[in-house]
Amino acid sequence: MTNYFANGNEVQLFEQAYTRKIPVMLTGPTGCGKTRFVEHMGSLLGRPVVTISCHDDLTSSDLVGRFMVTGGDVVWTDGPLTRAVKAGAICYLDEVVEARHDSLAILHSLTDHRRTLYLDRADEVITAPDEFMLVCSYNPAYRSSLKELKPSFRQRFATVAMRYLPPEREAQAIVAETGIDPACAQRLVRCAIAIRTAEEAFHFEPPSTRVLVTAAHFIAAGANEVEAAEACILAPLSTDGAISEGLREIAAAGLLAVDTL
Ligand SMILES: Nc1ncnc2c1ncn2[C@@H]1O[C@H](COP(=O)(O)OP(=O)(O)OP(=O)(O)O)[C@@H](O)[C@H]1O
Ligand SMILES: [Mg+2]
Repeated sequence: MTNYFANGNEVQLFEQAYTRKIPVMLTGPTGCGKTRFVEHMGSLLGRPVVTISCHDDLTSSDLVGRFMVTGGDVVWTDGPLTRAVKAGAICYLDEVVEARHDSLAILHSLTDHRRTLYLDRADEVITAPDEFMLVCSYNPAYRSSLKELKPSFRQRFATVAMRYLPPEREAQAIVAETGIDPACAQRLVRCAIAIRTAEEAFHFEPPSTRVLVTAAHFIAAGANEVEAAEACILAPLSTDGAISEGLREIAAAGLLAVDTL
């Protein structure tokens, strides 16, 4: 079983969506646990997870499949979406806003009452088994006006807006991931919260649970906390790694504060 710390009612909501065959949309900042949550639900529900990372060039053929020449024969080869539908898997479309609208159109019939994939080129119609579920995710912070999901797409999904865990649980997740001392995990969380709430950090995507786990791995390997925080929490905040002294001080104060979370 994957190690996932729930942050509210998202596990029940996902189970209810699965039971009633409703697709789920996960939103939230990077490193807040979206992928981990889907993996967790896959193992909880006993379904394989097929992940597809969406990008600009993704075509509907990349999703559903295409004819390919193998040994002189032209044969239809299922794409990952078709394979996921046939297997009754949980199909996870990561960063779905990155995909073009025409590529996503193929999903419309799959995400309403029809639950059907129309493979025009293969002259095949596949109705999804009950176990099949579609899950998409995106990070609203990356959204640009050019890349908006259409309402006709968004409204097909039940949306779970994911956030960072509350401090005590975030620290527990870090301990569970890395085995570091709980007091040290709490200091890392305090450091992250200090940055997340600092005015100086308003134009940065805040440090995520992921970077705290990474810092904790360094500490578990013998790094000192300030160095681990510099390399894993502060430097990745900006593309050139240049962080204002003010922010560095705020982070250090978070690490050094003695009060509990
Ligand atoms: N709720 C949680 N329970 C346990 N671990 C978590 C949780 N949230 C985050 N983590 C830790 O943070 C790491 C990053 O989480 P994950 O990969 O799920 O983020 P994400 O939301 O999918 O990010 P991205 O948008 O960048 O893909 C995980 O590998 C795990 O170590
Ligand atoms: Mg992810």
